[in-house]
Amino acid sequence: MSGTVAVVTGAAGDIGLAIAQRLSQTHDKIILADINTEAVTKLCEGHRDQFVPVTCDVTREADCATLAAEAAGHGTVSVLVNNAGAARAVSLGDTTAEIFRQDTALNLEAAFLTFQALEADLKSTRGSVVNIASVNGLAVFGHPAYSAAKAGLIHLTKLIAVEYGKYGIRCNAIAPGTVKTQAWEARAAANPNVFEDAKRWYPLQRVVDPKDVANAVAFLSGAEASAITGVCLPVDCGLLAGQAELARTFSQSDNY
Ligand SMILES: NC(=O)c1ccc[n+]([C@@H]2O[C@H](COP(=O)([O-])OP(=O)(O)OC[C@H]3O[C@@H](n4cnc5c(N)ncnc54)[C@H](O)[C@@H]3O)[C@@H](O)[C@H]2O)c1
Repeated sequence: MSGTVAVVTGAAGDIGLAIAQRLSQTHDKIILADINTEAVTKLCEGHRDQFVPVTCDVTREADCATLAAEAAGHGTVSVLVNNAGAARAVSLGDTTAEIFRQDTALNLEAAFLTFQALEADLKSTRGSVVNIASVNGLAVFGHPAYSAAKAGLIHLTKLIAVEYGKYGIRCNAIAPGTVKTQAWEARAAANPNVFEDAKRWYPLQRVVDPKDVANAVAFLSGAEASAITGVCLPVDCGLLAGQAELARTFSQSDNY
């Protein structure tokens, strides 16, 4: 046990919970921050020795200050995981100014606000920040406003790494591919085969599990990654490496 505290935002979601569970193996206290009070409180039931639920809208500066104050009651934060996020499945042509602002506030600005709120803790612990970005921040797969915000989040990761490296703070991002979570409920309702359809684009022929993302967070935030900062690690079952179907078309080889 490190004797320190980890903060995970959006912790009532499937990826956030998997991250909190994984970090509980190496940290005394995990602050599970989420806008959904009922869900996050329920998840912490039976784990109150290690899990601390905090209601927090990460797009609000005042809530981020409250989050930092609540965390301070349990120790000094050494790991911040900016996981809260959501996408709107519309085209750029259907994106309104309001959607653009909301997606940017949640998927980019919020990570800046939480970092600012916890900056003093992270300096004193020579801590680590992990931003959960997306493959959408690295290539176009739909969700335009979300994608632009995630691309910004990958750049924010580098900004923190470069300016705060002198304090020993490391900051890295993770870009997951498709992860089967609650966020997919509406799309899975519209097309029950959505995950099967998605698999053909993934070299590993499967989608990502929340635990895959959690393991990457544990690595990047831990001592084994002590020389790694400012990177974005795809956890995408090979999606960004290329598509076998396209390679087959171009090469006319059945080996793909
Ligand atoms: N599921 C995927 O396929 C996928 C792929 C790539 C990246 N991601 C990223 O992973 C992260 C987690 O996604 P998920 O699929 O677990 O989503 P999810 O919808 O299951 O969980 C997101 C959680 O964030 C919380 N939240 C939403 N707005 C908030 C706010 N303003 N303040 C605090 N909490 C808020 C929600 O209440 C929810 O508990 C997101 O950043 C998402 O963009 C997901």
